[in-house]
Amino acid sequence: MTHTREPVPDHGNLLTDHPELYEARFPDPVRLAARWTEDLLRAHGAGPRVLDLGCGTGRDAAWLHRAGRTVTGADTSEPMLTHARTHHPGPHYVHADLRGFDLGENTFDAVVCLDSSLLYCHTNPELDGMLASCRRALRPGGLLVAEMRNGAYFLGRTRLLDAPAWSRFTWRDTTYTAMTTLRVDRAAQLLCRRRVWTADDGSAPVEQHSAWRLLFPQELRYALAAHGFGVLLLHDGPGPRTEPVWREGMPSGGAVADGDRLHVVARLVGAG
Ligand SMILES: C[S@@+](CC[C@H](N)C(=O)[O-])C[C@H]1O[C@@H](n2cnc3c(N)ncnc32)[C@H](O)[C@@H]1O
Repeated sequence: MTHTREPVPDHGNLLTDHPELYEARFPDPVRLAARWTEDLLRAHGAGPRVLDLGCGTGRDAAWLHRAGRTVTGADTSEPMLTHARTHHPGPHYVHADLRGFDLGENTFDAVVCLDSSLLYCHTNPELDGMLASCRRALRPGGLLVAEMRNGAYFLGRTRLLDAPAWSRFTWRDTTYTAMTTLRVDRAAQLLCRRRVWTADDGSAPVEQHSAWRLLFPQELRYALAAHGFGVLLLHDGPGPRTEPVWREGMPSGGAVADGDRLHVVARLVGAG
């Protein structure tokens, strides 16, 4: 494919603005992420009330609902929330910013935060805001289950940063091509992504930017402890987005946190 036109800067996010496209781009037909979450919730005796922070299309929230839980899904993307209410009914969906929200006190037995949503907390105050909000929302002894990129993976490894990555997929007769460039802002501890989308439907290419906190395992442990959470598990897999991938019946992970993804289970134990 040749790119004859300059990409148009766009402040949205093609995938979160088009939830059906998001699900096509990141298919999870057997709901592995939700199953992994449910497995951990059961293993650690979580009660039924679950908050899914950064719930996206609602597919995991709805699976947990069907598994018998009372689920609230929270997101800041209106297209995502609309899609979730329509296509993945069951949970209660609310507009809430995970970096600071108030959904009542002792409202939930568990908070889950999947696929790097936690890393939208770019700064320490934002991370503090998120954990303080979780603490308020959780009952004493409540669980936090999260799954995200591992900042430590980038120490000494440049494979993902060295060259643009190309991906292509077709959805509803249109083929989308994404050129993704990643760079690290070391001082801000951010993984910054520039993505240029082209579609073969004649539309102009668009350029979009996103960033995720490069959060290190020790930092996460420290922040959790500061907000009264004790870490039960912190490891790099297997998980729903690792290679090899987690499968039902597998043990819930070891103590190594060196790989691409970080998985954490923490319990609200006391005063921070
Ligand atoms: C990578 S998607 C993950 C969606 C879902 N958890 C999953 O695993 O499929 C990240 C989601 O976080 C949402 N998000 C981004 N910033 C947020 C914020 N500050 N508060 C709440 N949600 C946010 C996005 O709209 C998007 O739906």
